[in-house]
Amino acid sequence: MAKISTPVKRVDFDEKFNGSARFVADINLPGMLYGKLFLSKKPRARIKSFKFPDIPDGYYIFSHRDIPGSNRLEIVIDDMPFLAENTVNYYGQPIFLVVGKDPEKVESICEDIQIEYEDINPILSIEEAESGRYPPIYGKNNIFADYSFQKGEPDRAFAEADEIFEEEYRTGHQEHVYLEPQGMLATIENGKITVFGSMQCPYYVQDAVMRITGLPREKVNVVQSPTGGGFGGKEDFPSLIGGLAALATLKTKRPVKIILSREEDIITTTKRHPSILKYKTAIKNGRITAIDIDIKLDGGAYATLSAIVLSRAVIAATGIYNFENLRVRGRAYATNKPPSSAFRGFGAPQAFFGIEMHMTSLATKLGYNPMDFKKMYALKKGDTTSTGGRMKTEVKVPEIISMIDSMSRFHEKYIKYKKENPSDPLNTLDKPLKGIGFSIFFRGCALTGRGEDKVKATAGLKKYPDGSVEILVANTEIGQGARTALTKIVSNTLGISPNKVIYNYPETSRVPDSGPTVASRTTMVVGKLLERAAKKLKNLWNSKDEFAIFETYRHPEGLNWDEKNFHGDPYLDYSWGANVVEVEVDPLTFEVKIKKIWAVYDIGVAIDKRMMKGQIDGGIAQGVGYATMEVLEFKNGIPLQKNLTDYIIPTSLDIPEIESELIENPSNLGPYGAKCAGEVPFVGVAPAVASAISMAIGKTVKKIPATPEYILELLHED
Ligand code: MOS
Repeated sequence: MAKISTPVKRVDFDEKFNGSARFVADINLPGMLYGKLFLSKKPRARIKSFKFPDIPDGYYIFSHRDIPGSNRLEIVIDDMPFLAENTVNYYGQPIFLVVGKDPEKVESICEDIQIEYEDINPILSIEEAESGRYPPIYGKNNIFADYSFQKGEPDRAFAEADEIFEEEYRTGHQEHVYLEPQGMLATIENGKITVFGSMQCPYYVQDAVMRITGLPREKVNVVQSPTGGGFGGKEDFPSLIGGLAALATLKTKRPVKIILSREEDIITTTKRHPSILKYKTAIKNGRITAIDIDIKLDGGAYATLSAIVLSRAVIAATGIYNFENLRVRGRAYATNKPPSSAFRGFGAPQAFFGIEMHMTSLATKLGYNPMDFKKMYALKKGDTTSTGGRMKTEVKVPEIISMIDSMSRFHEKYIKYKKENPSDPLNTLDKPLKGIGFSIFFRGCALTGRGEDKVKATAGLKKYPDGSVEILVANTEIGQGARTALTKIVSNTLGISPNKVIYNYPETSRVPDSGPTVASRTTMVVGKLLERAAKKLKNLWNSKDEFAIFETYRHPEGLNWDEKNFHGDPYLDYSWGANVVEVEVDPLTFEVKIKKIWAVYDIGVAIDKRMMKGQIDGGIAQGVGYATMEVLEFKNGIPLQKNLTDYIIPTSLDIPEIESELIENPSNLGPYGAKCAGEVPFVGVAPAVASAISMAIGKTVKKIPATPEYILELLHED
């Protein structure tokens, strides 16, 4: 194990353990007002008219007409308003902001606002979005993004195939359920606005505040508060809430705090994209000769990050495999549901669910053990990737597979359970049905394509005369351990105690734009800049002065990405992983009991082994929820699960023992050899769980979450 991997006490341990960390909800300022969003009760409607109740002095109702700047959030495309204008496009969309001193009064004003809606037929599924039956929500054809690419000669391979095997899979919505619901607090002083809050990306919030208020950059300061989890859910919505808090403080000249309740948070904020995944595979002489993959994502009402999520999905579509001939197409559709956007894994979990399930089906069909079959097709160093790039770095798939096989005894159990399971699970009530599933996956590190080159992150270190060093980055601690990881990188490189390294919650007026805290890029990309800065600083150390060193990202030579044609190398490097999951399915209730989960990863080098274990265990737990129990459904466009009594996530009782190992494979692009680590533990969980369930019940799970109800239905299908 590399020396840096030795666990240390987390830098944020004390403030979180003893409760001194002040989350945005904990901050109260003199004269502060409370803001509450008035949310749409219709999935799709024209707002014909509205009537405000009489309100006492000191209370306000703001609509889009009160916005002095632009009413458009600009995430990728500027289709999403801060406050709805003439139409609403999802149940839960913000329409007004009510503000005042007494939160109960604010609540009652909200209840007394009357709106006359004129319903428009909502588009509630990918199929309806495609059908063109109802007027489009976005553009002419309801498509936020449409990408395709191919390699080799798929048409010829299909024409010459002995057999063509087709499958379709589906994945559902997922809600982030960060511990801390979203919240923002804005203040104003001498015409300058400061926004505090729970967020991943202070510079995104700053841009949003500038847009809605029309204020220049120097008049807007954004300060991250301690943040209780993000998982991608605090990548874009904090811009909306922060913008609205800023609007209210600009209008009222008082501090304004908006904290979402759990229910508001669930109905109004972004989700993971549901998907429909289609596979068509050509087989000749018992081998795969071509694959055609079609990925459709349900993007919800507004574009947000759908285009980028989709690009990651299509790049991951062919999994870890080297197929000679392939075609991939991906589309993200607009529907009248909450916007789908970033969520840990960012499109890859859907893609890997489909390809891993499909490859498992193919293995079974062609008479192989899934582990052996998948290994046969795995990419190797030097291979051409699906997008025509080159796999430039070491691929340790054989090592990963052999390690997880010996940890889990997959081969042995696979044969055993296959033999023992009854042929008719519906008429077997005396013993649990057993299954074991395997998945193998990668994660492209940092932003996709030209992303890092466009962002061109800058990170800095400031040395003080007393020998302490401050980290100057915009990247946020959101529970993942960024603060500890960056502190370790700096203190190790400088050879100083971690106690001498300062990390203040980032504020845009003090730190350079080191890019968003997303895409598992913080440790690898920003950490590398800090490592470079620390090396320079070390050479100048003798000086007693106070000075700062800044380093800016340079895209590595030879990594080219053509974003129009989806051609080339889209990632700095790849992290890899495998999961094995063992389940027992109750033959009477079809409840799934997960017995044990094994995991092996190549994340380069762990900056801290214990923090990595935190990421692994957390990612796996979130993946188990996604695969088996997190149901979010809509009836006529209205969510059926609006709080945590209905939207079920795993508890510690649902998560079995997790045994994980790391294989070192240092990257020279990351600090101390580190690659990406935060998202990869989520990516492959669902297909391993669903493959295990499929084996237990003797039928392929085609849809997640695989709830007992779904399993029962599946067993009754012919
Ligand atoms: Mo993310 S899902 O790139 O915050």
